[in-house]
Amino acid sequence: MSTNQELIQQINQLRKKRHAVILAHNYQRPEVQDIADYVGDSLGLAQQAAETAARVIVFCGVHFMAETAAILCPDRLVLMPDPNAGCPLANMITVRGLQKKKSEYPEAAVVTYVNSSAAIKAESDYCCTSSNAVKVVQAIPANRPIIFGPDKSLGRYVERQTGRSLILWPGYCPTHHRILARDIKAKKQKYPEAKVAVHPECTEDVINLADKVASTSVILKYARETDAKEFIIGTEIGILHRLQKENPGKRFIIASRLTDCPNMKLTNLEKILWSLEDLAYEIKVPDEMARRARQAIQRMLELT
Ligand code: 13P
Repeated sequence: MSTNQELIQQINQLRKKRHAVILAHNYQRPEVQDIADYVGDSLGLAQQAAETAARVIVFCGVHFMAETAAILCPDRLVLMPDPNAGCPLANMITVRGLQKKKSEYPEAAVVTYVNSSAAIKAESDYCCTSSNAVKVVQAIPANRPIIFGPDKSLGRYVERQTGRSLILWPGYCPTHHRILARDIKAKKQKYPEAKVAVHPECTEDVINLADKVASTSVILKYARETDAKEFIIGTEIGILHRLQKENPGKRFIIASRLTDCPNMKLTNLEKILWSLEDLAYEIKVPDEMARRARQAIQRMLELT
């Protein structure tokens, strides 16, 4: 029996004993995705966390995602197998900075991308993910200014989709910004029949070359439902696992092999086993902060 199989056997025994559910993001390592009870995008993971009856949630993703689960399920034990899995984009906005911006635009609504800390969500009126950012912004009266952060690329995309001008925070995802327009053009030359699907965290010039701009789960849906046989994919490389597994007859070409998010790859089978053994590492959000952040997340969930 291979080491992985032994680990999986031990994880399976322990997850039952602990009444645990394993949630994994679409960017996780293939072997982590394969043992998860649910694999999805940020929105799907938040919805799963909100609905689960399990006592323990082992969250295989990055810190803000586990925090979102902890905010939505204060009575569950939310664990991260490796709590060092952070998000550089989420770290690009500070509470002090956001409060300053709010004082400059006191009448503005604050719409915060889910890739942000609980403390930032607590300062926000609405949360959004890449799959519902346009909908959330459209739900806000047209005459109300909107502070949108921390992702300026997603914000710019929302501006173009809604025709509204937003007060953009200058954050960005370093992994998605490694995809260059010339990468897409070169792949398009080599695979002229391919459809281009990219994440809205990509730069505007990359987005301009895409047939589809969407969250990870919506890219997966697009690949399943579109007749094309070849796709150029502009997002984190971990998504290839599900794309290939779900569409054996289709070909997926990653736009850039530099799109390997080191934080997303920190979680592995061994750490999941240790997490279940030791019930570690617990992700907890202080009550008052969680209450305020929950309002912003729930407003989003109600809209979607
Ligand atoms: P999705 O919500 O599309 O899964 O994206 C999450 C993310 O963090 C992208 O960098």
